[in-house]
Amino acid sequence: MIDFDKIPIVSGLKSYKERNMAVFHMPGHKQNKGLIEELEYIRENLYDFDITEIEGSDNLHSPDGIIKEGMELLAKSMKSKKSYYLVNGSTSGVYSMMLGLFNRGDKVIIQRNCHKSVYSALELGDLTAEYIYPKVIDNFEILSGINYNDLKKIVEKNKDAKGLVITSPSYFGTCSDIEKISKLCKKNDMLLLVDEAHGAHFSFSKMLPYSAISLGADVSVTSFHKTLPSLTQTAVLNVSKSLSDKQIAKIEERMKIFQTTSPSYLFLASMDMARYIMDKDGERLIGNLVNMVNDLKESLKDIKQIRFLEENDINEERIDPTRIVINTPVDGEKLSDILREKYQIQIEMSYSNNIVLIGSPLDLKEVYERLKVALREIFSGFKGSDTTATEKIKLYNIPPIVKLTQREIDFKETIDINLEASEGTICAETIVPYPPGVPIILPGEEISRELIDFIIKNNILEKNVIRSSNLSSGKIRVIA
Ligand SMILES: Cc1ncc(COP(=O)(O)O)c(C=O)c1O
Repeated sequence: MIDFDKIPIVSGLKSYKERNMAVFHMPGHKQNKGLIEELEYIRENLYDFDITEIEGSDNLHSPDGIIKEGMELLAKSMKSKKSYYLVNGSTSGVYSMMLGLFNRGDKVIIQRNCHKSVYSALELGDLTAEYIYPKVIDNFEILSGINYNDLKKIVEKNKDAKGLVITSPSYFGTCSDIEKISKLCKKNDMLLLVDEAHGAHFSFSKMLPYSAISLGADVSVTSFHKTLPSLTQTAVLNVSKSLSDKQIAKIEERMKIFQTTSPSYLFLASMDMARYIMDKDGERLIGNLVNMVNDLKESLKDIKQIRFLEENDINEERIDPTRIVINTPVDGEKLSDILREKYQIQIEMSYSNNIVLIGSPLDLKEVYERLKVALREIFSGFKGSDTTATEKIKLYNIPPIVKLTQREIDFKETIDINLEASEGTICAETIVPYPPGVPIILPGEEISRELIDFIIKNNILEKNVIRSSNLSSGKIRVIA
């Protein structure tokens, strides 16, 4: 008899399972509710496949057997020179590509709404950042990709930069024009590194935007677990033929540093299987998914309070047709609660007046039907706007004033003070609401009144937020 009171994590997961939610969040295997044969095979062999490096099982850190063979097949699918399975998420891939290609002190142009792993890599590698600010999608109040002309200006002013790191697609599915951007980088002798964490599925269907590596990126990192039928923490790093053997070898060295010496064979098997499923049947599975998403949009078209983010809401970019971003007059957080509590629908994240849902090739039609019914019920007859939404500050997009570099901060005393009283001080921590994992302030940046208001009005410190200080809400760590 299992005493569930003594295993809180297991109990929590059991309760979630028992609610039989319609799942619109990662990981992309969606618990294999459709019982596809390949994933059931992994499920049946969970304990049998969880082994270590023994004769015949190869070694992720110097592969010359089954893992090497698997990664060669992977490179074909990803259309790269070489691709690598990662067991420590895209985070380890971002560290490896940045610290593999840049040297201490190098200047790198960074898209300011990158994931926190990019900022951690800057810190670990002692790199200097020059930021490029993303475009704002006005009606949705979300940050998107970078504008080519803005980039051109920044490149012009920073000819000494060694490379550019961008995120494409964004959490919202918007993609930057990588083809054009890569040409500009090549012309200026800069490397292009793409955090493509949300675009692992791009390589497997003609209905989707092209992958970064096929559009000219020198290296890209994708999270298999986000949009493909693969276990959480699984990811892939792709290198292009544009890189030299020496550069590739340095990235490989970094992967050895940033990954565990005990890589999970379940993760590796899961990625091998996801790649196989997508190679074999990806076009059909993605086709089904795109049809279900399009049908969802079409069937809610008559409800004017519901707006889906579409390609014509953005300029000069493509959009992932499987990512669902819904804008309504209701605060996203509140809508997320209603969907969860009343309709047993769990979304990926809310942001401002938007909710973001992750579609996967393994989605079942019934979850889309449940979502349609729920949204129709919530919004038919809905008038006006939600007051919690209007009280909030929707977007913090003020270019920060950088006062100190990370290296300078390392030698300074810090102190935790009341957030309310912190205007004008220099922040000594990174504050990252998660998801989406984009820092709203970094160490060395001056704390502005606007930032304080943004944090307070949106209750940021009380939410799912990654930060270094461990105090009760209301405090922030600053330079003393
Ligand atoms: C854009 C982006 N990059 C990188 C990551 C890190 O990926 P992982 O969680 O696989 O380490 C995330 C995770 O949310 C992300 O959204």
